[in-house]
Amino acid sequence: MVGLVDLTVTNKKAPFWSFFVFCLWLPFQAMAEQDCCAVVSAHPLASEAGMQTLRQGGNAFDAAVTVSAVLAVVEPYSSGMGGGGFWLLNRRADNLYIMIDGRERAPLDAEADMYLDAAGEVIPGLSIDGALAAGIPGQPAALVHIAERYGNLPLSVSLQPAIQIAQDGFEVNEYYRKMAGMRLQALRKSPAAAAIFLANSELPPVGALIVQPDLAETLKQIAAKGHDGFYAGPVADKLIAAVRANGGIWQQRDLQEYRVKERLPIRFKYADMHIISAALPSSGGMVLAHILNLLSWFDWQELNVLQRKHLLIEAMRIAYRMRAEYLGDRDYVRVPYSELMDRVQLKRKARAISLEAATPSVKAPVADYPEGRDTTHFSIIDTEGNKVSATLSINYPFGSGFVAAGTGVLLNDEMDDFSAKPGVANVYGLVGSRANAIEGGKRMLSSMTPTFIETDDFEAVIGTPGGSRIISMVLLGILNMQDSDDPQQWVDAARFHHQYLPDRVEYEPGAFSEDELQQLQLMGHELQLKADGYGNMQALRRDRKTGKIRAGSDKRGFGAAVID
Ligand code: DON
Repeated sequence: MVGLVDLTVTNKKAPFWSFFVFCLWLPFQAMAEQDCCAVVSAHPLASEAGMQTLRQGGNAFDAAVTVSAVLAVVEPYSSGMGGGGFWLLNRRADNLYIMIDGRERAPLDAEADMYLDAAGEVIPGLSIDGALAAGIPGQPAALVHIAERYGNLPLSVSLQPAIQIAQDGFEVNEYYRKMAGMRLQALRKSPAAAAIFLANSELPPVGALIVQPDLAETLKQIAAKGHDGFYAGPVADKLIAAVRANGGIWQQRDLQEYRVKERLPIRFKYADMHIISAALPSSGGMVLAHILNLLSWFDWQELNVLQRKHLLIEAMRIAYRMRAEYLGDRDYVRVPYSELMDRVQLKRKARAISLEAATPSVKAPVADYPEGRDTTHFSIIDTEGNKVSATLSINYPFGSGFVAAGTGVLLNDEMDDFSAKPGVANVYGLVGSRANAIEGGKRMLSSMTPTFIETDDFEAVIGTPGGSRIISMVLLGILNMQDSDDPQQWVDAARFHHQYLPDRVEYEPGAFSEDELQQLQLMGHELQLKADGYGNMQALRRDRKTGKIRAGSDKRGFGAAVID
């Protein structure tokens, strides 16, 4: 600002040429104030490593490879090379928007009734613990694909930070102990997992080092051989042998045939916001679009705060019902996409919403489900304006708890995201129909919702873990953007959630006032406090006029942003 002050504080008349100097100086000043780039993730080591990749000449896509791989090492309870996810990319040069679908798929030998007993009942735990719970991992394929097709750097550079940390180790903290504590039994059952993640089969103390030499070796194979470093050769052989020796049904063909899919993201408009979000097999974008479309038939400004919250609950109920009834992997089942997104039909549904009373969902067994800080999300903006929004998962904390000996790869338990039996709730209380039934090769329906929001004033990158609650969290995050330009506020704000079944509103402390709680009850809502909160949202906002980037890393976790 020095130049400007010099011209104004002196009372002397500025010389005639100062105007031209000022005009020349302005764009440079704007450039000086612009931020280069930013990375925000659930773990400070991953954010730092991502920024290091950007500083080495990598673009946002290279940084996404680095961040994903480091998270796989330092958040073994959230995501990993034995899991999958959705990487939403925006390449500025040609304005490409693409979703890299690295979702796990069911092994080819999987059957619709594989988790049922002879009486047709779901066998508890079978789709959650151990090798039979694991889908075919997609993360290694996705990282190779992103690096080769979109990145500037070789995998040997972008994977190096993860390799280094896997070799050197990272320190156990209280959160690690809490997650490992939840999954102690499953981890103990897998000797290779116990050797890495436990200490003499007990929880390691805070400060203990988790060292993963086998995982470092697997990452090196991927760095050297790309796709085949994981899906063929010694790593693939060890994966198959370990899975089959422990009750799993993987075969060589499963790994040989695994490919990422490039999908066009869901795009729609709400108010002045262009929203770009996850496509099937994630339900995220469709459910989000459904809810915001329902809201658009009401005059939001005319509604009082209670009415707005009630309306949101009712819209969530309708959209999650649509998810349960119709959504699944479109490569395997017909999803009536156009009908579900049809504005006339949505208007009819919106008109049926009462602003006075809750509409009861059809009754079904009530499940309780976990807080939702496992699974992980990160957001990146680079200096060229490329963006990445990625949500990655191995599903339950520490996935299936099963490590394939000699690989260091902790396998997911994403098979539980299928509907093991129509109408029976999974670990997140979600019910599904035949659309999401198990079938060999099919991808299980997800709720992961990596999203971009763009207006004339700003662009934002947002997402979170949290199982079924992911979509309602992203929804509230988007609505918060209308009231605040501070991403920290978007991610910290108290949350509430309804998913059709179970028929109850879950809420964090502070989401409703005492009066609102009473009123909502009178309207017929059942309410349940989630005292510990849920989610771990990571968001970025770049102001289009100033170029300034601001970040929000959820106060519920211990993530961090790095902005250059
Ligand atoms: O894909 C999904 O929807 C789930 N596997 C995500 C799981 C998750 O977010 C766990 N966090 N609570």
